Amino acid sequence: MKNTVLTLQKQKEEGNKITMLTAYDYSVAGLIDAAGIETILVGDSLGMTMLGYDDTLPVTMDDMVHHTRAVAKGAPNAFVVADMPFMSYHTGTRDAVINAGRLIKEGGANAVKLEGGVDFADEIRAIVKASIPVCAHIGMTPQSVNTMGGFKVQGKNVDAAQKVVDDAKAVQEAGAFMVVLECVPAKLAELITATLHIPTIGIGAGAGCDGQVLVYQDMLNMFQGHQAKFVKHFGEIGQAMQDAFKAYSEEVKSGVFPAPEHTYKIDDEVLSQIKA
Ligand code: KIV
Repeated sequence: MKNTVLTLQKQKEEGNKITMLTAYDYSVAGLIDAAGIETILVGDSLGMTMLGYDDTLPVTMDDMVHHTRAVAKGAPNAFVVADMPFMSYHTGTRDAVINAGRLIKEGGANAVKLEGGVDFADEIRAIVKASIPVCAHIGMTPQSVNTMGGFKVQGKNVDAAQKVVDDAKAVQEAGAFMVVLECVPAKLAELITATLHIPTIGIGAGAGCDGQVLVYQDMLNMFQGHQAKFVKHFGEIGQAMQDAFKAYSEEVKSGVFPAPEHTYKIDDEVLSQIKA
């Protein structure tokens, strides 16, 4: 059954935690969908995990459309949310609506996500007016790495905590159907979750949120880069892949692979008539 904005809202109301993982391609989306994860985020984290950039800033709309199209094909049940990349909604509501529309029409996403609270309420309102569901993303917003001075926990003093609460209320008021809270203290996330009627999805925001999201390469320990404190490894897939690649290399070099059962046959009679 396809998850929707209504089923996700119902999960919040019933206290049934929402699960979300990132995916960037068809095969992984299919595995996540088959595991029953309710929402897939095509995150602009693909800048780091798939494209090898240092941060998300170079990711383009074309990158996002390309990866979203693959994920949407592989996710018959999960609700697919696609990230709006840096500078795709910062130049006004018209650009925001056009770019959100591309992720739906060309990418096949069910919703878009954008970073920002009070400052981007107009853009959220305009996209929602175009019948596109918006998931907001507040707290630590990676596209603002340069103004935030790094990837730092947000909301630790009174002013900063009030800003996160004000952002949360602003995005709900603007029509967002869900909000990601990244790297904020657990008690603040709990307070926001109790205040809002839309679901909150935490990443580094504690267990009091309505749901959780992780980058799949982080939770499978596949990614060699920096790992945040909030990451838990649910598998050692990076090591398992490396072991398999090594075993393949050894078998090819020693002639063990391919074996007869991996090989196509030809009649000797046919072969004898071939001039080489
Ligand atoms: O891009 C991404 O993967 C994200 C999550 C970390 C929430 O925005």
